[in-house]
Amino acid sequence: MRDRIVAGNWKMNNDFHETEKLLDQLKSYPEPPDVKIMIAPSFTQLYQSVQLLKSTNISVVAQNMGVAPSGAYTGEVSPKMLKGIGVNTVIIGHSERRDIFKEDDNFLTKKIKIAIESDFKVIFCFGEKLEDRVLKNHFEIVANQLKVVLLNLSDKNMMKIILAYEPVWAIGTGETASAAQAQEMHSYIRNIISIHFDSKVADDVPILYGGSVKPNNAKEIFSEPDVDGGLIGGSSLNAEDFINIANSF
Ligand code: PGA
Repeated sequence: MRDRIVAGNWKMNNDFHETEKLLDQLKSYPEPPDVKIMIAPSFTQLYQSVQLLKSTNISVVAQNMGVAPSGAYTGEVSPKMLKGIGVNTVIIGHSERRDIFKEDDNFLTKKIKIAIESDFKVIFCFGEKLEDRVLKNHFEIVANQLKVVLLNLSDKNMMKIILAYEPVWAIGTGETASAAQAQEMHSYIRNIISIHFDSKVADDVPILYGGSVKPNNAKEIFSEPDVDGGLIGGSSLNAEDFINIANSF
């Protein structure tokens, strides 16, 4: 069975004290069985989070990573630095990195290569913008994002990828793709993976949905056969909402 994953992307939220408070609240709830829970705090809160979550099965994920093993990259954080504090998973390609920080497919391909070579698991985000959907180009856009960045990976390395389909028009907007729209895209994505990789890879790769997932819509979205969980932004900042979402399978 494929992993079911609920990952909280905290973005640029939660300082030292807020992190302590939120993780204390999170730990007060029983962990749902058969769901992998992840949280992605800012770099400055990663070590603290790893320490605070030691007694749990919740894993700590980086929101980003430098594009080289080390060197003259002011302001960047290397894979080795993350590994050194117990972080083995990284989000790459989030739409905010693409839009605000101009990370393009070429750059993301390099990042994924470094991450995989450093033995990270990667949550790879992609998804169409509103104008692409209005013009009905969304399938083509998504296929391209996948092909450019991922399709030169070996089967073995593709197994280290968790896909996160996040239609940009649904991120932080309160507007969610319907469960049917999510399923339609997820099954299209799985089909692309099955064409380019072993069928076992396509069967096993988790595909998360992201974009305004809330406690009141998670159940419907997660009930779709090709939706294996969610990447949660806003609702991951509230422990009760986040745990309710993790309990929505
Ligand atoms: P949202 O963010 O849940 O606040 O829409 C999702 C994301 O950006 O990963």
